[in-house]
Amino acid sequence: MTMDNQTGAGQTVCVTGAGGFIASWLVKLLLERGYTVRGTVRNPEDEKNAHLKNLEGAEERLILVKADLLDYNSLAEAINGCQGVFHVASPVTDDPVQMVEPAVNGTKNVLDAAAEAGVRRVVFTSSIGAVYMDPKRDYESVVDESCWSNLDFCKDTKNWYCYGKTVAEQAAWERAKEKGLDLVVVNPCVVLGPLLQSAINASTLHILKYLTGSAKTYANSVQAYVHVRDVAEAHILVFENTSASGRYLCAESVLHRGDVVDLLAKMFPHYPIPNRCSDEVKPRMKPYNFSNQKLKDIGLEFTPVKQCLYETVISLQEKGHIPK
Ligand SMILES: NC(=O)c1ccc[n+]([C@@H]2O[C@H](COP(=O)([O-])OP(=O)(O)OC[C@H]3O[C@@H](n4cnc5c(N)ncnc54)[C@H](OP(=O)(O)O)[C@@H]3O)[C@@H](O)[C@H]2O)c1
Repeated sequence: MTMDNQTGAGQTVCVTGAGGFIASWLVKLLLERGYTVRGTVRNPEDEKNAHLKNLEGAEERLILVKADLLDYNSLAEAINGCQGVFHVASPVTDDPVQMVEPAVNGTKNVLDAAAEAGVRRVVFTSSIGAVYMDPKRDYESVVDESCWSNLDFCKDTKNWYCYGKTVAEQAAWERAKEKGLDLVVVNPCVVLGPLLQSAINASTLHILKYLTGSAKTYANSVQAYVHVRDVAEAHILVFENTSASGRYLCAESVLHRGDVVDLLAKMFPHYPIPNRCSDEVKPRMKPYNFSNQKLKDIGLEFTPVKQCLYETVISLQEKGHIPK
């Protein structure tokens, strides 16, 4: 534990969906900084949350609270007495019924409970999916915090995850305004890196499928990537920095899928990594421009994507998801 960085000593904060990929890292870093953490989980006894209890400082300062996003009272109980809330929990699915209502109403419930408890600041985990889904954006322009995804486009393409995240973030801003709550939003791109939990989450699956042989080709598409520790750090930076405000795009680099498989194949040549694009007709999609300057300005140092991919694969090996 870094004893010289006890910025959270004496403060209690709530992290929703504590057992998930990003939230587990956030809980870990908060505990390392001396915070007392109330982590909401849907089932505290479930084996999938066992890793949280083994985190350094967990025995003394982590309390797991049973709460569901759609149950206001359970959230209010978890948040009451906290100085801050990190609202990370969300369904991660393209099923419209499972995605949209829980994401939006869950967010409203968390903000209402935070307002009721009088917390200092709420940090909401949105997504780049609420930022860059816009067919009208030209490829020369820079994707930054001023961009919003186009809801009609998300609907027409049945991208219910991006639709749900966009509407949930909009609901968060509206609710915060109505209630006079201090809200700051982090918009991460595809998050990779070591897993603390045993289960595979959606973004890690994105890499796993290239290592197991289940993906025979790679798509002609580009995506932005970021390390999970950096995402957790970003949440803490925007919470602690009193002048932080608005949205923070959290991305390190944009790569074509072809670049991702090339990097993986160079570092781990013994896996059946695809080397053929599924689309041999259209020109190769170009990476878009983006800005992560806002987070750099408040002190975030991003981990290079190659390191991030390397650590993801090593973690998948260590957790037994792929042979070494
Ligand atoms: N990973 C990425 O690439 C990425 C990128 C951008 C944004 N994000 C955002 O980051 C957040 C965390 O994502 P993640 O990748 O860490 O996903 P994850 O591992 O799947 O975690 C999602 C968490 O949300 C919880 N949850 C879902 N529905 C809930 C409900 N109705 N009530 C209470 N808890 C609920 C889950 O709890 P259970 O374990 O009980 O299911 C789980 O702990 C999400 O808001 C996601 O949209 C992720």
